[in-house]
Amino acid sequence: MLKDKYDQLIFKHGFVNEPVSSSIDLRKEISLLKKVKNAVILGHYYITPELQDISDFLGDSLALAQQAQKTDADIILFVGVHFMGETAKILNPTKKVIVPDLNAGCSLAESAPADAFEAFKNQHPDHKVISYINCSAEIKALSDVIVTSSNAMKIVESFPKDQPLIFAPDKNLGNYINSVTGRDMILWNGACMVHEKYSLGKIVALMDQHPDAVFIAHPECEQPVLMVADFIGSTTALLNYVSKSNANEFIVATESGILHQMQKACPDKSFIPAPSIDSTCGCNDCSYMKLNTMQKLYLALKYEKPEIILEPAIIEKAKIPILRMLELSK
Ligand code: 13P
Ligand code: SF4
Repeated sequence: MLKDKYDQLIFKHGFVNEPVSSSIDLRKEISLLKKVKNAVILGHYYITPELQDISDFLGDSLALAQQAQKTDADIILFVGVHFMGETAKILNPTKKVIVPDLNAGCSLAESAPADAFEAFKNQHPDHKVISYINCSAEIKALSDVIVTSSNAMKIVESFPKDQPLIFAPDKNLGNYINSVTGRDMILWNGACMVHEKYSLGKIVALMDQHPDAVFIAHPECEQPVLMVADFIGSTTALLNYVSKSNANEFIVATESGILHQMQKACPDKSFIPAPSIDSTCGCNDCSYMKLNTMQKLYLALKYEKPEIILEPAIIEKAKIPILRMLELSK
């Protein structure tokens, strides 16, 4: 039974769908609500610049999980996508974890339905399961260890060479790790809808037009794109790379939200979003990440909804591989 008006709105829309007066100073209200409720805002680099700027902590998937583990806030407002909110909830079962919009999913997480994945896992009983953090809590519960793009290589290499491995759900990241480590992990056939759309032809043409530009890419990109990259890394690794590099121009193959932090860190350098096969604007946006808005964030904090709710049994099981990852990342 739906309890109140707001639960009904969330059931229908995935967020509190209430008009917000344009006279409200959202930044001020959000900062007030945060103090009153002892809430913390955790944001991923792919959200809009405005949301990045009001986040208390901004980071890649690993740093956000680490931050969620150590926060003493009563409420965690996760501005990213659903699996990130779930990870924060798994690490903090007694805290309230809220998100601006429950519809903010992830194509990678959706590519691995729990039933199909469990059947696949059962076909390979001697394999350990390594899952990229971009997956549902149910998939995490079926995994031996979780990885992010920052620590995947190190964690895969922590397994003995003769240990058969399954890597899910990102076939591109899995394939990249196989190619660097010489492993032969069985890959689940999932991909990120943003990173698989980069056009190699357009990127090479852009590199010709900008011969001094350095091409950097996220490992969720497809292999042909990664093969021409000068540097491959997680969002944080890409950000650190451009900050330290002597180059002045970069072609960036990851979601365009990160460009805001790159530009802030290096105001004198220029960043060109890598073109995708079907974009006319030359940039790649994750439509899920971009479902987060200032209005929804404000309403989420005001009503403490929508909340991430998980079954205790799933939390118990999913926590084990996440904690294993956090331990291996120290
Ligand atoms: P990282 O920020 O961990 O590199 O992950 C990128 C991503 O796709 C998050 O959805
Ligand atoms: Fe998922 Fe790709 Fe969006 Fe990241 S960018 S949240 S992997 S769909």
